[in-house]
Amino acid sequence: MSGATPAAVPDAAELERLRRAAFDAMERAYAPYSNFRVGCALRGTDGSVHAGCNVENAAYPASICAERGAVLAAVARGTRDFDLLVLATEASEPTPPCGQCRQVLVEFAPALPVVSFTRAGRVGRWTLAELMPHPFTPALLAHP
Ligand code: THU
Repeated sequence: MSGATPAAVPDAAELERLRRAAFDAMERAYAPYSNFRVGCALRGTDGSVHAGCNVENAAYPASICAERGAVLAAVARGTRDFDLLVLATEASEPTPPCGQCRQVLVEFAPALPVVSFTRAGRVGRWTLAELMPHPFTPALLAHP
């Protein structure tokens, strides 16, 4: 986990780059059961961009969300410090990450800014700290 302060809000061109990456990933989502496709672009503090999409399964609980897919891909590539998550869905309202994804994200980036887009261009903005005010973090594993 990085204690780094998140980067300032990205400029319009950078946000557009990530928005496109998130919608591209959404197009690759495999969501035949929910028909709710999600894509995301998780930016490393080194500028790398890690895409994720939801991948469902006939055994429904084996499905995995876009955000966790992106974290897994990033960590496998050696990136553990993140400064922005951009989400794309087909929902009417901008959607934040689900509870399980918040928990996985908070391990690495407790103050992560999250920007969520709908197809119609509606935008939601939060920080992970707002979405998860009392997180269970690695430090809490300490015991006598
Ligand atoms: N989903 C995500 O990919 N991310 C979220 O944060 C919310 C939910 C997926 C899981 C499932 O495939 C579908 O959206 C409907 O819940």
